[in-house]
Amino acid sequence: MTDSFRRMWAELLPVGRSASSGGYRRFAWNSADAECRAWFEEQARARGLAYELDRNGNQWAWLGDPNAGDAVVTGSHLDSVPDGGAYDGPLGVVSSFAALDELRSRGAEFDKPLAIVNFGDEEGARFGVACIGSRLTAGVLGREQAYELRDADGVRLPDAMEKAGYDPAAIGADEDRLGRIGAFVELHVEQGRYLTQEHPVGVASAIWPHGRWRFDFHGEANHAGTTWIEDRRDPMLTYANTVLAARKKAKLAGALATFGKVAVEPNGTNAIASLIRGWLDSRAADEATLEQVVEEIRQAAYERGERDGVRVELTRESYTPVVDFDGPLRDRLAKRLGGVPVLPTGAGHDAGILASVIPTAMLFVRNPTGVSHSPAEHAEEADCLTGVTALADVLEDLACK
Ligand code: GLV
Ligand code: MN
Ligand code: MN
Ligand code: MN
Repeated sequence: MTDSFRRMWAELLPVGRSASSGGYRRFAWNSADAECRAWFEEQARARGLAYELDRNGNQWAWLGDPNAGDAVVTGSHLDSVPDGGAYDGPLGVVSSFAALDELRSRGAEFDKPLAIVNFGDEEGARFGVACIGSRLTAGVLGREQAYELRDADGVRLPDAMEKAGYDPAAIGADEDRLGRIGAFVELHVEQGRYLTQEHPVGVASAIWPHGRWRFDFHGEANHAGTTWIEDRRDPMLTYANTVLAARKKAKLAGALATFGKVAVEPNGTNAIASLIRGWLDSRAADEATLEQVVEEIRQAAYERGERDGVRVELTRESYTPVVDFDGPLRDRLAKRLGGVPVLPTGAGHDAGILASVIPTAMLFVRNPTGVSHSPAEHAEEADCLTGVTALADVLEDLACK
């Protein structure tokens, strides 16, 4: 298993990696994503697994009869955020194949079908909504909404899929498929620092509710050298104050608020901007706190906008309610792994989307620095291998005689 893990890791490592930053740019339906997808299909076929592409562009590799029901599914995603790390997503997919290799070497006898999945567009880096593949499958993102999604160049999601050689005509809820799954387990690198030195692996208890909101600050373009300060309607000012307010409100509430993406029009050094678009990502331990924090940020933006002569518009682009992972499945995993830590996370996952429809659990592999969504994201190989063994133990418990 160690060899197969190392080989797979080395194969994926260069795909979509920027030579300058060392980060990844594997965005839905781009060429790096296509390479990752070809790699997944190759892994499936090399192991004699039945390869399947579902109606939403998610990839599946089946051991046993996909139609038998009560299947045990594991996997994650292969796409990345802009300049993402190597582990967020790929560690789960590589570990899934390596865990199957491990179970085969143990001579495990399966009495349930097992599948490995690569969910499409988990990060939402291209079309703004995270977990598109699993959301479509679970029916929490509708086909009509999905058809309206556009990337930064104005390319519609169905056109991007078509260009990459996929048929977007059939996208939508896939109840039949979910009805044939008894449990889903996603292994993922930990994205914070909950796991202590002594614990390379943990089990997830919950995912914080989180969402994405777009603030449009409409001002007036004008000359940087001739427009008196009192004559300006500068949306940059309102935006900057909103960022400060977000930080303050979130801190006071014990929540998180991030403006990580911004677009400026016309984006000229010597022109006051006409429009600033700022995307807020906010998360909290419970939905009431999240709602309150976003409302406070909204109020701060509107009040500041009035002072600045800037019109503020707010659009909620996506929202994921709190996820409490299936209690019996979570306890079964923790027990099978000998009492590992059970921890919540603020990061979103396909497992969080599926948890509303099927029993779902997650395993986390220790991240020594907690850094994620960055080229510096890291996990020690020994911890990754411990993760593979833990996943194999869990799958054996769930799917074998
Ligand atoms: C995805 O990784 C997210 O939590 O934003
Ligand atoms: Mn991520
Ligand atoms: Mn991820
Ligand atoms: Mn994620």
